[in-house]
Amino acid sequence: MSLKNIEDIAAYIVAGGKGILAADESNPTCGKRFDSIGVESTEENRRNYREMLFRSKGMKGNIGGVILFDETIRQSAEDGTLLRDLITSQDALPGIKVDKGLEPIDDCPGETVTVGLEGLDERLKEYSSMGAKFTKWRAVINIGDGIPTDKCIDANMQALADYAKCAQDNGMVPIVEPEVLMDGKHSIDDCYDATDRSLKSLFSHLDKKGVNIKGTILKPNMITSGKDSDVQASIDEVAKRTLECLIENVPSELPGIAFLSGGQSDVLATAHLDAMNKIGGFTWKLSFSYGRALQAAALQAWGGKPENVFISQDELSHRAEMNKLASLGEWEEELEER
Ligand code: 13P
Repeated sequence: MSLKNIEDIAAYIVAGGKGILAADESNPTCGKRFDSIGVESTEENRRNYREMLFRSKGMKGNIGGVILFDETIRQSAEDGTLLRDLITSQDALPGIKVDKGLEPIDDCPGETVTVGLEGLDERLKEYSSMGAKFTKWRAVINIGDGIPTDKCIDANMQALADYAKCAQDNGMVPIVEPEVLMDGKHSIDDCYDATDRSLKSLFSHLDKKGVNIKGTILKPNMITSGKDSDVQASIDEVAKRTLECLIENVPSELPGIAFLSGGQSDVLATAHLDAMNKIGGFTWKLSFSYGRALQAAALQAWGGKPENVFISQDELSHRAEMNKLASLGEWEEELEER
């Protein structure tokens, strides 16, 4: 791979239908995932699990980048190979989550701002020296009674822009993730409105900060009904409303949009992505940066047992292949029958 600058890196990650494996769960989040399969979240178990994922055959050609947590970028596989080198050997680029999580906002009940700008420049320099080519920062927007407020959106999108500039100044691609959560009973229109406001604010802050859009990847939510809403929008409607919102707000020179899965089932996340790519009519690559929707089946199949490694890797490989097809608009439901 000869990647001369951030524009090359961003284009590489999403080239030819490839997407991103989000494996940057913090230790507490990883603990929750492991609880669901009755495995203790020790440093060794987290290493074993991620080593297994990164050695899966289906990484190659389907995954262009892997987002890591601080612990993982420093870890080695059982044979001593650095996990980040395993990723590179699969022709994927290692990336790193660099925000420091959520804090409540004064006078905004139910809302948070993502923190981590303090000391960011030094952290980025270290990650770059370890070979990280891209970074991720996640902002969280809640929908509820009277929220999101403009104050919450503005504070979060400004922090995203400050982070993105710092990442680019250190030669790494920023993935900007303004996640409007699916939690709640809200309608698809409420999700559209919150996402539309967030994206407008985000691109205005990126512009003000002088962030190079051609060296940036957007990681948005799709426009869906709230998880607990009685009315669930169809695949077609999710695809159309999501595209409408992105076309309205995202500059055409952005190289890639890689969705988060946000709690959607794995097949539904694939179906939505495929439906959008079948509609077409946009300039960016429309791809995936899934955590749960890539890993859920592999995690279940593994169950913490070494004898399950191959079937677990097969599950990850399958989802990676399905999502690559969806990024090309070439997925069909029958391909899920194995
Ligand atoms: P999910 O796809 O599980 O939402 O995770 C993506 C992610 O990286 C959230 O920050």
